[in-house]
Amino acid sequence: MNTALTDTVRYEERGGVALITIDNPPVNGLGDTVRRGLAEGLARAAASTAVRAVVLQGAGKLFCGGADIRQFNTPAASAQPMLREVNRSIEASAKPVVACIHGVALGGGLELALACHYRIAEASAGLGLPEVNLGLVPGGGGTQRLPRLIGAPAALKLITSGKPVAAAQALSLGLVDEVFDGERERAAIAFALAQVGKAPPVLAKRPPAAREGMDFAAQRQAVNPKARNAIAQRSAVDCVRAATELEFEAGLDRERALFEELVAGVPSKALRHLFFAEKDAAKYPGTATRAIRSVAILGAGTMGGGIAMAFANAGYRVLLCEREQAALDRGLALVRRNYEISAARGALSQSEVDTRMQRIQPTLGMAAFADADLVVEAVFEDMEVKRAVFAQLDRICKPGAILATNTSRLNIDEIAAVTGRPQDVIGLHFFSPAHVMKLLEVVRGERTAGEVIASCMRMAVAIGKIPVLVGVCEGFVGNRMLTGYWREAGFLLEEGATPAQIDAAMQGFGFAMGPLAMADLAGMDINWATRKRLAPTRPKHLRYSEVADRICEQGRFGQKTGAGYYRYESGSRTPIPDPVVDGIIADCAREAGITRRAVSNEEIVERCVLALVNEGARIVEEGIAQRACDVDVVYVNGYGFPAWRGGPMFHASNTGWKQVLQRLRDLHALHGEYWVPAPWIVQQAQEPERA
Ligand code: COA
Repeated sequence: MNTALTDTVRYEERGGVALITIDNPPVNGLGDTVRRGLAEGLARAAASTAVRAVVLQGAGKLFCGGADIRQFNTPAASAQPMLREVNRSIEASAKPVVACIHGVALGGGLELALACHYRIAEASAGLGLPEVNLGLVPGGGGTQRLPRLIGAPAALKLITSGKPVAAAQALSLGLVDEVFDGERERAAIAFALAQVGKAPPVLAKRPPAAREGMDFAAQRQAVNPKARNAIAQRSAVDCVRAATELEFEAGLDRERALFEELVAGVPSKALRHLFFAEKDAAKYPGTATRAIRSVAILGAGTMGGGIAMAFANAGYRVLLCEREQAALDRGLALVRRNYEISAARGALSQSEVDTRMQRIQPTLGMAAFADADLVVEAVFEDMEVKRAVFAQLDRICKPGAILATNTSRLNIDEIAAVTGRPQDVIGLHFFSPAHVMKLLEVVRGERTAGEVIASCMRMAVAIGKIPVLVGVCEGFVGNRMLTGYWREAGFLLEEGATPAQIDAAMQGFGFAMGPLAMADLAGMDINWATRKRLAPTRPKHLRYSEVADRICEQGRFGQKTGAGYYRYESGSRTPIPDPVVDGIIADCAREAGITRRAVSNEEIVERCVLALVNEGARIVEEGIAQRACDVDVVYVNGYGFPAWRGGPMFHASNTGWKQVLQRLRDLHALHGEYWVPAPWIVQQAQEPERA
């Protein structure tokens, strides 16, 4: 008979075997009721005279996705029994306990399986310890049992990479005892009964793992300090080291201590925030009724080529169109070169390069676009050019085709207005390089149909992007926020900072790149054009830094011209401070009547980050972003904001909205109108502080 032990765990005896089933959708997370149910099931199996062996399994699609992340930092996370006690009961069982893994066994799920005497896995299953991705180490004995089972080198790789392995590889590593195909419960019951009478192997009783050939200090050192989870990776090395030096219980204590420290810290909270934020950002309630099979890209420049690669990489057939043969050849050559670079790194085989190139079909005219389900326009960033293109697309494309623009700033509604089908027009703002960057701003126009949005959101996930739905405004979410960020950088230059100081300060905060080096990389001419376009509407009574314009006036557009905020040696991307720029800055300061002073790194970080936060808040209150966490997803994935700080809005909330508001008010008093606090922040500051 099948009995519910708790809401989330079932128990059944069949043919001498107790089947204990975790049934806790969506991922059979090891929440408090699951742990309690497992403990009860084990006790019941031990007491039953009819039971000779035990099978642990998961209901639905998978064995177990690990600890219930939503319960972290809540009382339920520490409700008894903890996973450690459950694992102890399994290991103490005189009857063999078998984990029957299908779908995935991840994190705590794999740790539970490691406590079992045996593990069998369906051929399609994946097994891994992804905790480092959430800024954690496994906290249920995984770091102590795994090295004892598969050796320290393989365990270290599995734990620090966070990447799951397929069942076949798990078998060759010795992580599972058998891989099976076919009916699951039958395989598990047969395997379990075959173990009856043998002494159950218990990893906890094994001595520390061999440490020959392991240089843990070097492993720690080898962790990329820029990795979003660097702290967790280093702790993971420490845990595995403990598994080679300490007896099992002492090793467990060490693991637990490191886990507790990480779980309470900001970096892990930030990464967990992003884990859920990225999943939420990709959700859209509408139905994705427009099938997207064939894609056409207009414009074979860096952006168009990268977008074509993003689709080709995911198996789509892509038409890549230019007006002239030479431009088309250049575009295709660039795509091929990018693929060859991946092949040289060993990331792609030569035949895979060829397959992907074959998916990209070059074309000179737009006539072939008539059959495309989705067209992505990636031509010159100019409203008149875009409108002309869309008028043409409207004539050529089949009814129901989605017409997308890759504009990074322009008004989608104005573009849509030249077509007779504004409901089919949408913005797909890819980030450069488009085949690498995961962020995709999906820009909904005023009249974009829900099914078009839903279809694009689904398509984005299918090509491995993280889509964020945003509304129309100058610069959408990401580039709009960049305006204030660069504004402050410009002001700070005039007030006394140098480009190198500003960039170093922001990198010190954790940004992948400082604002000025980033401007040089992106191309300063693009923003210059935007500033010129917006000049007529810029409020003249507000302070304006001329520095960027003056640099551009000298033909210095950044890396591509060998000079921008910095100068660059030929063929090098290393920014070198340039006295010419220092002179421009000094001139601008003098003309603006600013007496230059020593600017601290703290001031640089505060002003640049709070400029992002204040604009992010306005974006949320205007409904341009649906949620504050969407702003975080954009900034972390598109603009190099440190993931371990969770994004600008999480960072501000973690600092405390009251304090943020106070600092904004101080800056307002000191620097004027730009710093008027967004009403949304005033509102957040009135809410009771969350623990
Ligand atoms: N705890 C709580 N909720 C979890 C979870 C976990 N460990 N893992 C996933 N979820 C939630 C997701 O947020 C999502 O919720 P939603 O439907 O409300 O958005 C739902 O489960 C389904 O997850 P999703 O990722 O969309 O399903 P999937 O089938 O594509 O993938 C997993 C399933 C388990 C492979 C994937 O969710 C995953 O990798 N989870 C993280 C595992 C992990 O890191 N475990 C270690 C924890 S320390």
